[in-house]
Amino acid sequence: MHATRSDESRRTLTDDRTRFEVMLFPGVPRIVSAARNVLSDLLGDDHPSLADAKICQSELITNALRYSNSGNDGGQVRVEIEYDKAHTTVRVVDDGGSGTFPCLTEDAGESGRGLAIVEALAETWGVRQIGAKTAVWFTI
Ligand SMILES: Nc1ncnc2c1ncn2[C@@H]1O[C@H](COP(=O)(O)OP(=O)(O)OP(=O)(O)O)[C@@H](O)[C@H]1O
Ligand SMILES: [Mg+2]
Repeated sequence: MHATRSDESRRTLTDDRTRFEVMLFPGVPRIVSAARNVLSDLLGDDHPSLADAKICQSELITNALRYSNSGNDGGQVRVEIEYDKAHTTVRVVDDGGSGTFPCLTEDAGESGRGLAIVEALAETWGVRQIGAKTAVWFTI
C-alpha cells in the first residue's frame, strides 16, 4: 500500500533513504522562522535533533542576512538540507561580499555567540567559498 501524502509529511525517518531539500529565500528576516518550520516538516516534530538543528540553522541564516549581500535589496539565501535517519546536514549559502569570514570569535560577550553555539551543538561544521558566495554548513 502506498503512503498517503499526510503519512509522507509526518514520516519518521526509519528507512535508509537520504533525502534532500533546497530552498531559495529572499533575504528578509522572517525567513529564519520559515526555514525553522520547513525543518520541522522534514524531520518530524519528535526528531531528537530537531531543536538543536533549528537553533544552528537560525544562527547561520541570521549571519547570512547580517554579514553578506543576502541581507541587501534583492539578496537571497539558499538553504540546502540533506538528511537521513542518522544525520542532518544544513548548508546556508549567502551572497558574500561582506569582507568578513565566518569564524569563532574569542569574545564571550553579548555577540560572537552564534558560531560558538553551532560548534557546541553540531557534530561538525565548516565554511566553503563558492566563487563570491559563502556556504556555512553543519552536520548534526
Ligand atoms: N555568513 C557570513 N559571512 C561573513 N562573515 C560571517 C558570516 N557569518 C559569520 N561571520 C563572521 O563571523 C563572526 C562570528 O559570527 P557569530 O555568529 O559567531 O557571532 P556574531 O554574529 O558576531 O554574534 P551573535 O551570533 O552572537 O549575534 C561574525 O562577527 C562575522 O564577522
Ligand atoms: Mg551570529
